[in-house]
Amino acid sequence: MTTSIPASLSARLETHGQMHTLAFWDRLDEAQREGLIQDLQSVDFEHLARLSEKARTETADPHSTIEPLPQVTRGADPAQDARARALGEQLLEDGKVCAFVVAGGQGTRLGHDGPKGTYPATPINGHPLFQVFAEKLLALSRRVGTPVPWYVMTSPANHDATKSFFEANAYFGLDPRDVRFFDQGTMPAVDTEGRLILDEPHRLFRNPDGHGGSLRALHTSGAVDEMRASGIEEIFYFQVDNPLVEICDPTFMGYHREARSEFSSKSVPKRDPHEKVGVLCARDGQPGVIEYSDLADDLRDARDPGGKLRFRAGNIAVHAISRGFVERLNEGSFGLPFHVARKEIPTVDAGGQPTKVDGIKFETFVFDGLPLANEILVMEVPRADEFSPIKNQEGQDSAESSRIDQIDQFARWLEAAGVHVPRGEDGSPLHAIEISPLFADGADAVAARRADLPEAVTADIILS
Ligand code: UTP
Repeated sequence: MTTSIPASLSARLETHGQMHTLAFWDRLDEAQREGLIQDLQSVDFEHLARLSEKARTETADPHSTIEPLPQVTRGADPAQDARARALGEQLLEDGKVCAFVVAGGQGTRLGHDGPKGTYPATPINGHPLFQVFAEKLLALSRRVGTPVPWYVMTSPANHDATKSFFEANAYFGLDPRDVRFFDQGTMPAVDTEGRLILDEPHRLFRNPDGHGGSLRALHTSGAVDEMRASGIEEIFYFQVDNPLVEICDPTFMGYHREARSEFSSKSVPKRDPHEKVGVLCARDGQPGVIEYSDLADDLRDARDPGGKLRFRAGNIAVHAISRGFVERLNEGSFGLPFHVARKEIPTVDAGGQPTKVDGIKFETFVFDGLPLANEILVMEVPRADEFSPIKNQEGQDSAESSRIDQIDQFARWLEAAGVHVPRGEDGSPLHAIEISPLFADGADAVAARRADLPEAVTADIILS
């Protein structure tokens, strides 16, 4: 039997000006035809048309009132920090916290062949990002005396490669039962006229639906049900590109819990007014993140009475999200707003040969969950201790800048433990240093291993 196009589908394609998606129909085999029909039937054409229209007409809202959000500052009140830390440690010991990395992105800027988590990140050994996180989790699990489960969100394009990487590396010492992979959703992209794009004659181009897709994928994958069944109450959310992340930071989890926050965020002070980072703030009274390009110049440059940038709360995409919040969102018909990214998109020409077209991708952002939470909390932390992502091939937020920051952090840990670390005129350590999380995963852990440390760093050194 030859597959034919359901009349209702062809009517919808006709109405929405999408008949071109059938351009290669006569050339497709049966399986490809069925695949394409399924693909097209899953598209919400009305929604896509609204998004495409919005993308064409979108302008920044000039009328919003933007205010800074209150923040807890790590280190400002050591007694409070200690109390929060004890609470966070208790949550971890009770098995109520899991780690969650969003690793479904395409990593276009880095241009690495493979999932970003497989990128070599550590200063000397070049261990991949996934290994850094796995070893941090292993160290944490040992400290709290119970495994901390790890959820890894992938996208259809990198799911298999991610899983195979863990398998090929024996899960970097973790018990595979403590690591759970699941896919995020996808969104079709359109060209500048709002027309769907074929990336193969029989398939629509789809991109992962943004890190905001995690708030739904946690539910549709069954991950949240599993969490409930195993007693997990809090989700520590982080990105795949930041080797400095303090996974499940007990102090942060404690503050989050104490505040009964449903969605907490870490911030770092912006380096300068022009740093291209989103800022956590309140817009018309609602918490959220404002893109650097949308912050008016006077607000961008404004200082508080102490001389600090008034809007300095740079969003580093480290969050604590309560499981109950994710459940509540998914009980209702929540939808995060779609943001528009204009990119070149791979497609096929009239002859079916690969080419590229200017297109529009639609993505949701996880921080758009902030205004949906009943309570939120923002905690400011020192950048040097917690944030140095690998996003670009060179310059800021590159492998090189992250390497320098990792070495500097290891150097500071050693110095705090009494080790002499020679530094050059610019203040940077003369020798490369790498400390495996399995040797020690923080300043206190390094100090506790004083007997295993050298008196001074006299050459490149790996402690593992
Ligand atoms: P980025 O915004 O840095 O995007 O993602 P990216 O895809 O990694 O890189 P570029 O922009 O193409 O160069 C921040 C975090 O969100 C995850 C990424 O994997 C990264 O951990 N992410 C992003 C997803 O999990 N899914 C997405 O759809 C988008």
